[in-house]
Amino acid sequence: MDDVQAYIESHRQSFENELAELLRIASVSADSRQRAETRRAAEWMATQFRQLGLATELVETGGHPIVYAESLPVLGKPVALVYGHYDVQPPEPLDEWTSPPFEPTVRNGNIYARGATDDKGQMLTHVKSVEAWMKTIGKLPLQVKFLIEGEEEVGSAHLEPFVKEHREKLVCDCVVISDCSQFAPGIPAITYGLRGIAYYELRLRGPRQDLHSGSFGGAVTNPANALAVLLAALKDENNRIQLPGFYDDVVPLTDREREEFRALPLTDEQFMQQLGVTGLSGESGYTSLERRWARPTCDINGLTSGYQGEGAKTVLPARASAKFSFRLVPNQDPRKITASLRKFLEDRLPPGIALELVDHHGAPGVLVSLDSPYMSAAAAAIEAGFGRAPVFIREGGSIPIVTTFTHELGADVLLLGWGQNDDNTHSPNEKFSLDDYHRGTRASAQLWQELAKTTNRTKKTQ
Ligand code: BES
Ligand code: MN
Ligand code: MN
Repeated sequence: MDDVQAYIESHRQSFENELAELLRIASVSADSRQRAETRRAAEWMATQFRQLGLATELVETGGHPIVYAESLPVLGKPVALVYGHYDVQPPEPLDEWTSPPFEPTVRNGNIYARGATDDKGQMLTHVKSVEAWMKTIGKLPLQVKFLIEGEEEVGSAHLEPFVKEHREKLVCDCVVISDCSQFAPGIPAITYGLRGIAYYELRLRGPRQDLHSGSFGGAVTNPANALAVLLAALKDENNRIQLPGFYDDVVPLTDREREEFRALPLTDEQFMQQLGVTGLSGESGYTSLERRWARPTCDINGLTSGYQGEGAKTVLPARASAKFSFRLVPNQDPRKITASLRKFLEDRLPPGIALELVDHHGAPGVLVSLDSPYMSAAAAAIEAGFGRAPVFIREGGSIPIVTTFTHELGADVLLLGWGQNDDNTHSPNEKFSLDDYHRGTRASAQLWQELAKTTNRTKKTQ
């Protein structure tokens, strides 16, 4: 184990160079103009795995390819499946980046680029830890499988059928995912809950074409006005969501969790300072961490209508549209939400407006068990890599495929985030701390050792 850790220490520079190489690839899954670049990232990953001597496949899907690789089975030892994603979110708005999104740049010990933390940097720690084992010991102490996709940021539509079809191939005891955050610098964490999501686009159509707002305004329903009214109706003044049945399946926070959240060191003042806001709001009766981690919510993600150019234009727009999403908590079903939402909107549609509701993607929230030998192994590995035992947290983001892993593979999911809350994920100047990159790699190398010490269970799917 000392040799493995020494290899990691002496290869910091090459590990950083390789991360930079991957970050130079503009693998924006949502942007069809970046299809070839997105594929190049998949190929780059496959090359990494082949160079480590893993059996590697680049699997074609109806969308971006899946990269699958596995090391040799180790008799009597558990199997770990590492999941991650090589795709990234669009980099816009470009003029807010200090250095361009696909020209990775190191400043103050952080590497800045789209995908630095989400998820290229975090994912790569597991590849580099396998490299360290292979180049020193020559083999891993347990079988590691890698499943790396290119569509996480657009809802993982092709991964789900792949996992269902290849349950035998993917069979494992635990799934390792580094695609979330630590609690704070110096406070590593294991995440035991994620929110789900239900994402929509609402398009409203009014008159045949844009109208003079003086000649027609007041007598014709304005789609932009109608959109504002409909969206505003989704929440009341206490920030409670108004869809009938919305809260029916919500699992309430336990008193124990609320106490544990309260014990974590983050005040609203610190949180406000991090974000540059002068106040906070959210569902009445809950703290900020509770609102972010364990309560459902609704946010508008994009709004389009009317004149956006310079100066003023007196126009009554013919169309208006909004992208918006609900974050869901475990046990809420995105399909039920869709049905309730459709009826809610149709019931309130004003005269002269036609509605189209596009259901972009949905995924349920997850809660994972803290009570398993793999979880204890992960905690020990984090302590070794980061010099401090992890705290246990929930997070507000979503990783759509996690539920499929628990249902189809029956495996325990270990959400081991190496990122920070101020890494600017999905936002300009995304970064990843190089120290966290190397600590994550150390923790990952230790994880293989700790997991190999646990006895493997009978495979639930066999
Ligand atoms: N890595 C994030 C998920 C995440 C973010 C987990 C913050 C924990 C904290 C992931 O890449 C992501 O952005 N997921 C999307 C999923 C969506 C596109 C279906 C999300 O949460 O918006
Ligand atoms: Mn991610
Ligand atoms: Mn993301």
